[in-house]
Amino acid sequence: MSLLKLMGLAKYIPRLEPSLATYIAVTGACFLPAIVLGLYLLFDIRSRQADPAGCRKLGLRIQSQLADQHDKRYSGTGVEQQNGAASWRVKSLWIYPIKSCRGVELNRGTVIGTGMEYDRQFCFAQLSSKFPTSLDTPQAEKAEHKWKFITQRSIAAMATIKTEVWLPDPSSPSYSRKQPNVQSGGVLVIKFPKLNNNIGPWGRLVGLLTSIAGGAEHSVQIPFNPTPEQITNNSYNTDQMEIWKDSPKSLTIASTENADEWIQELRFYLGITNHLALFRISKDNSREVYRCAPRKEELGYQSKVGFQDAYPLHILNLASVHEIGMKLARDAPPLGALNFRPNIVITGGEPYAEDSWKRIRIGEYDYYVACRTVRCLLPNVNPATGIRHGSEPNKTLKTYRRIDEGDPKNACLGMQMVPAVEESKIKVGDAVEVLETGEHFYIKQ
Ligand SMILES: *[C@@H]1O[C@H](CO)[C@@H](O)[C@H](O)[C@H]1NC(C)=O
Ligand SMILES: *[C@@H]1O[C@H](CO)[C@@H](O)[C@H](O)[C@H]1NC(C)=O
Repeated sequence: MSLLKLMGLAKYIPRLEPSLATYIAVTGACFLPAIVLGLYLLFDIRSRQADPAGCRKLGLRIQSQLADQHDKRYSGTGVEQQNGAASWRVKSLWIYPIKSCRGVELNRGTVIGTGMEYDRQFCFAQLSSKFPTSLDTPQAEKAEHKWKFITQRSIAAMATIKTEVWLPDPSSPSYSRKQPNVQSGGVLVIKFPKLNNNIGPWGRLVGLLTSIAGGAEHSVQIPFNPTPEQITNNSYNTDQMEIWKDSPKSLTIASTENADEWIQELRFYLGITNHLALFRISKDNSREVYRCAPRKEELGYQSKVGFQDAYPLHILNLASVHEIGMKLARDAPPLGALNFRPNIVITGGEPYAEDSWKRIRIGEYDYYVACRTVRCLLPNVNPATGIRHGSEPNKTLKTYRRIDEGDPKNACLGMQMVPAVEESKIKVGDAVEVLETGEHFYIKQ
């Protein structure tokens, strides 16, 4: 005799006939969590299978070295002194495989003549035509067009395009020398949000389900160093792409002109009306570095860059970022090191000590500090959201960081460097020793 019967409530409970359907329903309900878990694992495996075969992902697996970057101990006040000198250290290392897109944080890296290995090897460009043209402009001139590089300066949302570098890994079960990913020396992965075009409640449900099944973002894989065979097979042609005053010959990896689907999606995502293409710098590129850089006779090799703006390496003192961050307008988001797109973030000394460095040693290797970094409006873009602030840090920087007589109209923060040898190693925690200080005078493009 159950309690329900005693209370006369039993008649309100539907009697379940022990039919086959009931068994299935009850069993199904009991196993629902297991089914959900099973599907989750299936999708998880699917997404992991989609990782480039034969490779491992380059970069930090633990949390970012910059996770505590706003801590007061990096503000450069109460500097620890060692034998009367500040003890500088490398705090964080970054590469940006695609210019102006999100970077990859490293624990250690190799520096080659052009800067950090894998840094700025790719770049987006848009096709710009001569405009306006007049009626009597010759046809040939009207048809003239040029690929011009784009950055967050004009397209802030580029900050939200994620990049990954996957390198051949002989310990991977799918590794083989014939594997295309291995032959290309690894894979560049590009990820960006999928636009949800589904409207209404039903559309939203469909959107949700497809995002669970296929991920909420596009993911594209590109051979990092395409072999001649891959260049032919994928019809990567060569074209000139204008970046500042250079027009290096570059490989067209994808282009809306060729109707490559993912880059059409990216073009909509970024809201670009012109044709958009992704370029890879070619091996025989000749973006040689002069201006403030030491010459070949001094270095023993000719300094060159990939798609960096001007010099191979960018070093940033976290204390200087703190100092500026404290002076910003109240409504500005917290200023971080990544607003300034450094390769090397250092801590240990006072703000702006780096302004007069000429030569430094990091770990066991020497670097020439060629010049100061003259800032444009790019640091106004929040690197996490891709949203540009209306005035900061440009406004604050302009008030007191116009310190270089070579370009007195613009503010400076960070230093441009050229490696003293063609190959060196660098890692987080390396000691930084100042070998030489002196004057700087910025030479414009
Ligand atoms: C290139 O295409 C040829 C012919 O379709 C094929 O045999 C070869 O495996 C392809 N190579 C690569 C690297 O994709
Ligand atoms: C940058 O700051 C300076 C100084 O406040 C100001 O004159 C200039 O208009 C700013 N530039 C932009 C584009 O906001």
